[in-house]
Amino acid sequence: MTHRVGVIGGDGIGPEVVAVGLEVIDAAGVELDTVHYDLGGHRYLRDGTILPDEVLDEWRELDALYLGAVGTPDVPPGVIERGLLLKMRFELDLYVNLRPFTRPAGDGHPGHDFVVIRENTEGTYAGEGGFLRRGTPHEVATQGSVNTRFGVERCVRFAFDLARSRRGHLTLVHKTNVLTFAGDLWERTVDAVAAEYPDVTTAYNHVDAACIHFVQDPARYDVIVTDNLFGDILTDLGGAVSGGIGFAASANLHPGRVSMFEPVHGSAPDIAGTGTANPTAAVLSAAMMLDHLGETAAADRIRKACADPESLTGTTREIADQIIARL
Ligand code: IPM
Ligand code: MN
Repeated sequence: MTHRVGVIGGDGIGPEVVAVGLEVIDAAGVELDTVHYDLGGHRYLRDGTILPDEVLDEWRELDALYLGAVGTPDVPPGVIERGLLLKMRFELDLYVNLRPFTRPAGDGHPGHDFVVIRENTEGTYAGEGGFLRRGTPHEVATQGSVNTRFGVERCVRFAFDLARSRRGHLTLVHKTNVLTFAGDLWERTVDAVAAEYPDVTTAYNHVDAACIHFVQDPARYDVIVTDNLFGDILTDLGGAVSGGIGFAASANLHPGRVSMFEPVHGSAPDIAGTGTANPTAAVLSAAMMLDHLGETAAADRIRKACADPESLTGTTREIADQIIARL
């Protein structure tokens, strides 16, 4: 059975790293039936298209989506992010954003291996809010956070299941001492679900303290579950303490349905076209996509080939060749 995959290279270095990901999948012996979509800031500037509903409907019928990066400095912030990437996450209801972080032991570092489960369809990202008297001295801007019991609970359940399959430890990261409404809902949800998982131990960290632990003692973590915005910020830090953002991969999941796989990094317009982008994050995202497609043996081989990130240096082409040679 071939897998039907929609490919959105996007902007900047996106198309360059996605091309390597597809090459590595091919070299690992997995055949994909790909459909390429020309979307992103460059397309928007050309003809105003962001994400047509017909395209979304096509995507619902696919097995997976593989995305490079979207966004360009020539388009005001938010247009492509909200109109394409977030629309994709929301409309396809990709409620889990799974971001794994590993670092081998060495150089006086004990090594770590943890996963951040970021809620992906709610919180401040839901777009609640607006302006009043915009552009006047009395203007008001509000930007609320939407947290539903249903949305939080399905994400928390996913995180508990994952923890159970790993080292059996789950940490809720939030800011319950200040965000007393949303934090309370998250905390009660975790406590209620925890009762069904007596084999999983739990902990709680405020997000500011979690930032310290990410830098000083990330080995304490197994699975972290957190809201959309905290997860966004924490996972950049997770990348930074795990060899760099060039190695951070992610899966945007709705278990059992079409899901989307993308590197955590952005379009890096400053280095686009120079052939120097590190494709490893895109390759590791491709491995996560293969897991989703049931090609777990190929996915494991790809992950093994990327296991020593520090040695994956050089140009985009050199890193690609290195990974393929190790397969
Ligand atoms: C990410 C990105 C996106 C986000 C941006 C591009 C909208 O930073 O995937 O982490 O904030 O979720
Ligand atoms: Mn981010």
